[in-house]
Amino acid sequence: MIGTGYVGLVSGVCFADIGNQVVCVDKDKNKIDKLNSGISPIYEPGLDELIKKNFTAKRLSFTTNIDSAINTSDIIFICVGTPTRKGSIKVDLSFVYKCTKEILKYSKRKKIIVTKSTVPVGTGDEIEKILKRKKKLFTVISNPEFLREGEAIRDFRYPDRIVIGSNEKKAFNIMKKLYTPLTNKGSKFYTTSRRGAELIKYASNAFLATKITFINELANLCEKSGVNVEDISLGMGSDSRIGGRFLRAGPAYGGSCFPKDTKGLVSAAEKYKINLSVVKSVIKSNQERVNLLTKRVHKILGSNLKNKKISFLGVTFKPNTDDMRDSTSLKMIPYLCKKGAKVRYYDPSGEKNEFRKIKNCNYINNIKSNCNDADLVVLLTEWDEFKSIDFKKIVKNNKFKVYDLRNLYSAEEMKKNKIKYYSVGRPNTN
Ligand SMILES: NC(=O)c1ccc[n+]([C@@H]2O[C@H](COP(=O)([O-])OP(=O)(O)OC[C@H]3O[C@@H](n4cnc5c(N)ncnc54)[C@H](O)[C@@H]3O)[C@@H](O)[C@H]2O)c1
Repeated sequence: MIGTGYVGLVSGVCFADIGNQVVCVDKDKNKIDKLNSGISPIYEPGLDELIKKNFTAKRLSFTTNIDSAINTSDIIFICVGTPTRKGSIKVDLSFVYKCTKEILKYSKRKKIIVTKSTVPVGTGDEIEKILKRKKKLFTVISNPEFLREGEAIRDFRYPDRIVIGSNEKKAFNIMKKLYTPLTNKGSKFYTTSRRGAELIKYASNAFLATKITFINELANLCEKSGVNVEDISLGMGSDSRIGGRFLRAGPAYGGSCFPKDTKGLVSAAEKYKINLSVVKSVIKSNQERVNLLTKRVHKILGSNLKNKKISFLGVTFKPNTDDMRDSTSLKMIPYLCKKGAKVRYYDPSGEKNEFRKIKNCNYINNIKSNCNDADLVVLLTEWDEFKSIDFKKIVKNNKFKVYDLRNLYSAEEMKKNKIKYYSVGRPNTN
């Protein structure tokens, strides 16, 4: 596995767990040193145990030595990052191409090259071009990854489908053999062209981002028209043609995939002079959502936020991960601090470097101290430990308010407890 991040590490560990000999390589020495001393560099439930188990069984190793990692492997997975290029919506493929050049340099015998990184349609062809000097050694396959952070191990073991894209038939047989332990348990094995596989990944992420954005906009209408958006999600989602997942209103979508992949898809389409207007408007609506939520804080606390004490519960883009990439908190917290608010936050995955240098922003390492003198508690991420907080007991300021961005709490309960409560897409009960 080249690239030992969320995808490379989880996939590498899980491939080892189903009996393969796996070497995970990364250019980040700090990451590899941590892994070699038994510490996972990321927060992912169940991962620590699985690393230990397979490391001890000598099926799994970690290295910065890409030369030996390439030479000892038959199948090489490219799992490096594909972020958005700075100042553009295009995908930065420099990490993919750099490690392709390293594969070319160090390979001395036949290799299967599998792109697990999310890459725009046609990237496999570009990889092949880089490898053309030793063309006979390589078969280039696309095998996009669909795991979700926070559920990554389960998603690897029981994927809805395994997508393999190749222009060579023999590649399907090799990959089918590798994935047999998963297909034996019922996962679908789906084959297509290499370009097809590349596009399936972007299409899936853009569609899921569209579902979230759609219900978020509907939530705005529900708030104004006195309807509960959860009734809409349930009523719509029960239709099997629609499906209930990814239909929960909340903050803007974030994370390491949806924001960059929606932009990446639009830019890939532009290359072919195709206007993906639906995806474009999803991106715009999602960006506007963060402004809408901060405006809502003003509505709750008034226009002057100076010295208002605001406590955040959760700052990651979703629970069970420490990933902060494109989380709504990255925009909301700096904005509120700039307006003079005193922000405290607690997150079960720990303090965040992103907020260390922000004036008036402090990490407090437990729920109670984080919220005790708050004017407003903002529930941003639905970690389990936030599900049954007795706010009356822990907040000393008796005029405090709660802004629940995940609809985790019951409006009726809050009313009963005389707490001013604001949520997303529900009628105002205050
Ligand atoms: N994170 C997810 O939930 C998720 C899910 C599905 C697909 N993906 C896709 O998988 C890819 C990887 O995502 P991620 O979240 O794991 O990224 P990440 O940033 O967590 O990890 C990427 C790793 O690659 C390493 N790297 C970069 N260039 C290297 C090189 N030349 N040699 C060795 N190591 C190198 C980096 O040091 C880093 O550790 C992306 O294309 C992403 O879109 C991610």
